Amino acid sequence: MSSCFREWELPPQLREWNTLSCGLIRGGEDREQRIIGWFHPCVALRIRPISMAELEEGATLIAHKVDDQMVVLMDPMEDPDDVLRANRSREKSYMFDVAFDFTATQEMVYRATTKGLIEGVISGYNATVFAYGPTGCGKTYTMLGTDHEPGIYVRTLDDLFRAIEATSDNMEYEVSMSYLEIYNEMIRDLLNPSLGYLDLREDSKGVIQVAGITEVSTINAKEIMQLLMKGNKQRTQEPTAANRASSRSHAVLQVTVRQKSRVKNIMQEVRVGRLFMIDLAGSERASQTQNRGQRMKEGAHINRSLLALGNCINALSDRAGGKYVNYRDSKLTRLLKDSLGGNSRTVMIAHISPANSAFEESRSTLTYADRAKSIRTTVKRNLLNVSYHIAQYTSIIADLRGEIQRLQRKIEEQGPRPARTDIRRIQGDCR
Ligand SMILES: Nc1ncnc2c1ncn2[C@@H]1O[C@H](COP(=O)(O)OP(=O)(O)OP(=O)(O)O)[C@@H](O)[C@H]1O
Ligand SMILES: [Mg+2]
Repeated sequence: MSSCFREWELPPQLREWNTLSCGLIRGGEDREQRIIGWFHPCVALRIRPISMAELEEGATLIAHKVDDQMVVLMDPMEDPDDVLRANRSREKSYMFDVAFDFTATQEMVYRATTKGLIEGVISGYNATVFAYGPTGCGKTYTMLGTDHEPGIYVRTLDDLFRAIEATSDNMEYEVSMSYLEIYNEMIRDLLNPSLGYLDLREDSKGVIQVAGITEVSTINAKEIMQLLMKGNKQRTQEPTAANRASSRSHAVLQVTVRQKSRVKNIMQEVRVGRLFMIDLAGSERASQTQNRGQRMKEGAHINRSLLALGNCINALSDRAGGKYVNYRDSKLTRLLKDSLGGNSRTVMIAHISPANSAFEESRSTLTYADRAKSIRTTVKRNLLNVSYHIAQYTSIIADLRGEIQRLQRKIEEQGPRPARTDIRRIQGDCR
């Protein structure tokens, strides 16, 4: 199975070839970002299993995975006996970084798309994973999954804490999370819905922030899972004709990891990595969902923000054409600005149904996903240089003493080391 992460295997000299701005040493905090290179998003495609409803309608299969990277969408109107239309077939094949069909397990999807991002996040790089596609095609299944088949959220958090644990002898970590939904163009805090609707703000460095959002700090995987489950219960979800549990909002789970060395220094480097995991609401046609009233209004908002997302993908993939990228058309695109065209390693998992009845939706999703492959993001390591005032030196020295004692205890616990062979004695023996 191919995976999205060939780029992390770049030679080290290319990984850190440029320094954008350097922190000044003057007692305080300085932000610094080091470019490590240009990246294309990893674009994966998942074809979900055919559903009971589709089978009952007599649907046929038109979307097929040909190999690990190729998918073919057949033309449902094509008649093999119609020689006059033989050259007008709309059948088309598409290539992605990785393709999955009904045989793919949640673990396979996670391993090939997201697992490779974790190492970067804990050492100061931003990453985004988002699930995209029409309603009822499996976005929430991929991201959230079920109790028996957990999705990307749970698997990523599990591995993230495992990676932190494995390096915590030398590194100190702080992990915080926030979870929000964009419902009818309004932002709601899923960890604390009573806060009402929140605003988006851009700070002086151009970083988009959600003003007043609850950021929960934890270093405990179990705690973060409980918060996630609590947040999911608050998410707006309603039955439609296309999906019994249709997400009516875009959900954004953000995990921030701050890493610093346990070895104290006059200037401490803090690496800040942010991971966004996004389960988008699906694009929908009113006729397909049979929505009326509130559901129809939600559908219009969902489609509008997905259209804005599509327009950004279009403009970004045509950089040579110098198109203006309009992030300001929706809250979703403003929030995804960095993930789409800025400082982030991005994974997009597009979803389609295999059924002939979904041909038009599948075709437009495949076209967008195909275009997204040519976007380019600039990945930088986010560093925060914290320099200490002279008065803080005494506490640094105390910390260092503590660290020495801790290491000494560790050496003692490990017991006596085998005596080193004396090289002079060996040389003497040889003579
Ligand atoms: N790979 C899969 N394996 C098994 N069942 C799946 C798979 N993908 C989707 N399903 C099932 O299909 C149904 C619709 O999936 P899901 O709710 O994830 O769609 P969605 O893309 O999130 O839709 P919406 O945009 O309406 O929220 C669910 O019952 C889900 O369990
Ligand atoms: Mg959903």
